[in-house]
Amino acid sequence: MNFKELCEARYSCRAYQDKPIEAEKIEYIKECVRLAPSAVNRQPWRFLFITDPEQLAVVKACYKRDWIQQAPAIVMCLKNESECWTRRYDNHSHADIDIAIATEHLCLAATEQGLGNCWVCNFDIDMLRTTFPIPEGYDPAVLIPLGYAADEKPEKVRKPMEEIFF
Ligand SMILES: Cc1cc2nc3c(=O)[nH]c(=O)nc-3n(C[C@H](O)[C@H](O)[C@H](O)COP(=O)(O)O)c2cc1C
Repeated sequence: MNFKELCEARYSCRAYQDKPIEAEKIEYIKECVRLAPSAVNRQPWRFLFITDPEQLAVVKACYKRDWIQQAPAIVMCLKNESECWTRRYDNHSHADIDIAIATEHLCLAATEQGLGNCWVCNFDIDMLRTTFPIPEGYDPAVLIPLGYAADEKPEKVRKPMEEIFF
């Protein structure tokens, strides 16, 4: 797969097979995440790879969609607002940009390894904070369910070139 083919292959997978993920694939994905760039190289992040059934149930309860129940793994992507670079001109934190880059590394690496994945930000943050042991100083930014897909890639819906490039 070249990079464009990888970009086309990644899609929001919302149906998963009941099949565990090989440990080598997880290690490969982790290394791709580790190599992500960040502002001033602060790397203000942690990634929790959750496969334990009890822990999975707690996290899944914070996202009210049936489809996430099937996912054999969830990666909780956390940002650290104290560790990240903040632009002094306007005090703008870059933690969201940093975590987004690393999270997309994760999604593209998983796709290359034949694993379905989906960005999930619409979770109940207060419920997650009170039910899951979040590391001190970190904020859950994204949940990524991971697993072998049980659906088909839908056609991409995107704005035309002339609307976004100038
Ligand atoms: C920041 C972000 C947050 C998202 N949150 C959710 C979510 O909570 N639930 C969901 O089903 N999809 C979520 N998505 C997936 C988008 O709906 C999806 O990427 C978009 O519709 C394009 O489809 P594609 O990923 O299949 O190309 C999110 C995507 C991004 C980038």
